[in-house]
Amino acid sequence: MKEAFRKRSLFLFTKQSLKRSAFSVSRLCFLKRKFITHKSSTSSYISQKLKKMKYTFLLLFLGIFGSASAQVIQSPSKNIAVEFKLSKEGKPSYTVSYKNQIVVNESALGLALKEGMGFEDGFTLLDQESKSVDEPWKPVLGEQAIIQNKYNETSFHLIQKVTDRKINIIFKVYNEGLAFRYEFPKQEKLNYFIITDEKTQFNLTADHKVFWIPGDFDSNEYEYNETKLSEIDNSKINRNNGIGVKSIPNKYRVQTPLMMKSAANLYLNIFEAAVVNYPVMHLNVEGSTYKLKAELVPNAIGDKAYLKTPCVSPWRTIMVSDDARDIVSSKMILNLNEPSKLDDTSWIKPMKYVGIWWEMHVGKSTWDYAGSQNATNFGTKLESSGRHGATTANTKRYIDFAAKNGFDGVLVEGWNVGWEDWSGNWKEEVFDFTTPYPDFDIAAISAYAKEKKVKMIMHHETSASVANYERHLDRAFDLMKKYDYPAVKTGYVGKIIPRGEFHDGQTMVNHFNFVVRRAADYKLMVNSHESSHPTGYGRTYPNYVAAEAARGNEFNAWSVGNPPMHETILPFTRLLGGPMDYTPGIFEIKMNAYDKNKTEQVHTTLVKQLALYVTMYSPIQMAADLLENYEKYPDAFQFIKDVAVDWDDSIYLEAEPGDYLTIVRKAKGSRNWFLGAITDENARSSEIKLDFLTQGKKYKAILYEDGNEADWQKNPISYKIRTITVTSKSKIKLNLAAGGGAAISFVPLQ
Ligand code: NOJ
Ligand code: CA
Repeated sequence: MKEAFRKRSLFLFTKQSLKRSAFSVSRLCFLKRKFITHKSSTSSYISQKLKKMKYTFLLLFLGIFGSASAQVIQSPSKNIAVEFKLSKEGKPSYTVSYKNQIVVNESALGLALKEGMGFEDGFTLLDQESKSVDEPWKPVLGEQAIIQNKYNETSFHLIQKVTDRKINIIFKVYNEGLAFRYEFPKQEKLNYFIITDEKTQFNLTADHKVFWIPGDFDSNEYEYNETKLSEIDNSKINRNNGIGVKSIPNKYRVQTPLMMKSAANLYLNIFEAAVVNYPVMHLNVEGSTYKLKAELVPNAIGDKAYLKTPCVSPWRTIMVSDDARDIVSSKMILNLNEPSKLDDTSWIKPMKYVGIWWEMHVGKSTWDYAGSQNATNFGTKLESSGRHGATTANTKRYIDFAAKNGFDGVLVEGWNVGWEDWSGNWKEEVFDFTTPYPDFDIAAISAYAKEKKVKMIMHHETSASVANYERHLDRAFDLMKKYDYPAVKTGYVGKIIPRGEFHDGQTMVNHFNFVVRRAADYKLMVNSHESSHPTGYGRTYPNYVAAEAARGNEFNAWSVGNPPMHETILPFTRLLGGPMDYTPGIFEIKMNAYDKNKTEQVHTTLVKQLALYVTMYSPIQMAADLLENYEKYPDAFQFIKDVAVDWDDSIYLEAEPGDYLTIVRKAKGSRNWFLGAITDENARSSEIKLDFLTQGKKYKAILYEDGNEADWQKNPISYKIRTITVTSKSKIKLNLAAGGGAAISFVPLQ
């Protein structure tokens, strides 16, 4: 087997154009690999036979099947093999195997076009190119100082003879998964074109367990459902979930990343990377056959993507491993994006921040000046009720707190005119992003922040009136520069204007990416909320530091909330595309602390909120609770003060989607390590080896643990803290309560 692959690699791993004949050799290898799947004496016999006969085969293939139709690309580890095939009718398809087991059955590739014949069949292979890449790169901010981009690539150049049009299908195979995309070269017969459907299939082999959220074109803020593939059904979900704008057009449609687990304990994940000038891909599910098909989010008139050659589609990705850690720690999505387009990135900095934010979510203060909190019905007079959160005095209080506790920034929401009537009426002219309320003295606040060496974080709630935001964007960014705000949190609550567009359509993807690029021109960082899911664009524009784009902690304040397993799934799904502004750090777990009639609560223990700083990666991380709640628990708050947000290294120690996750990370430019461990609704114990610590060094380990009686529902605030001395030879037993966690900081003693 090895010998055959070595031979094949002569073809595959040399960067050069190859002629059709190479197909046959690879086909031979794939056949051989299939035979060898069954490890028996017969297989070794076949193997030997094949070895002897391979040149005969080669000649046979060349002679009889001159247009032989299959080719295999393997991962560098050789665990993953993708077979690309052209049928007799010239239909392209692919099949994926992992450790010699088929994990994606033959699945169609192709696209339908608005005009003329689609790209579905009638293709012939013109030629192909292959290469192997293994190159390191340094993210500006990240989970690790260096990311290795290692894969084998083959690009198939196809021609549709009847139309005289060409497309390329490019495969990249990594150790933890594969990716493919459509490329449309510049050519005479294809210039402007409109995609009306993407025919890409993902035909799975069995009724896997799946973690899914409905294929809503406007919101990804759902809790995950854990069912079999055949049980996916959007009509069965609880829609009383706190999401304002919902548009679920189909019972059997789900979003990506789609995380799955097979009965044989294989972990699979379907997602996309580098979604640029293209809509988001959702998936239609045929539950009885386990066949999934791409569903591109349409625009207002039902078209999917407007393109012009030369151009590319996003990458479609399938990760597969028998170790869940390979998936949750994967950097494949980032790797599939273009390197940074920014030469100077010195202004892109990690930030830990507090803000005038949770107090509005729990109803203690209001976004609007009038204090009605009635976002849909402003009268005539702009009069303060005294409940407005974003006042100069309150902002200074937050700045003081940030300065005292070593935080980098302060976010203030509700600072600008418009909140009396911002939501629910599909109104176009909402905010101008430059006019502060009378009680928010932006000049005085900025001067005060500067004096205290704290940065202000801007808030632009657009209420999804994107047309209005784009009109004001430059003036809004000018204001930020004038007052030295380095970062903006954007928001897109509501129905999109231009009316008829969806949050996930091409128009909006272009908007989200445009804001990031325009912000880069101004040297501003962006943290978007209610945007389409990130797909690694933060590699290309590292000022795209975070996004929400999933159900954040805020839902715990005013809705059914996020079940305890929620945070154990997000790193396997949403976070694969980029950091999430989850806003952890809520200590006052139950909302009846603010109003005795409230029944809402955060669905974790206090300690799990600490652990989230490690498990929910973001280089811009909020300490989201009210300042007075941190003052109540200063010993637990110490972890939030200490924890880093930018890292030299990250090690995923334990991972199981929907159940648990344990990660240790080494702070950027420091010898300190931080551990975060979380569990779902089940209590959990495990033993962690500290062999990641430098050998021969002693460390002070401060352990933040759930109290003995802690429980996310009955006793969420119970915690204990102890300090011990450890070395790389030590082991630590972690005991996590139901819905709980553990957080540890390791500081070298010498
Ligand atoms: C939803 C965002 O996720 C949240 O953080 C923000 O406070 C509100 N919209 C208001 O903009
Ligand atoms: Ca949100």
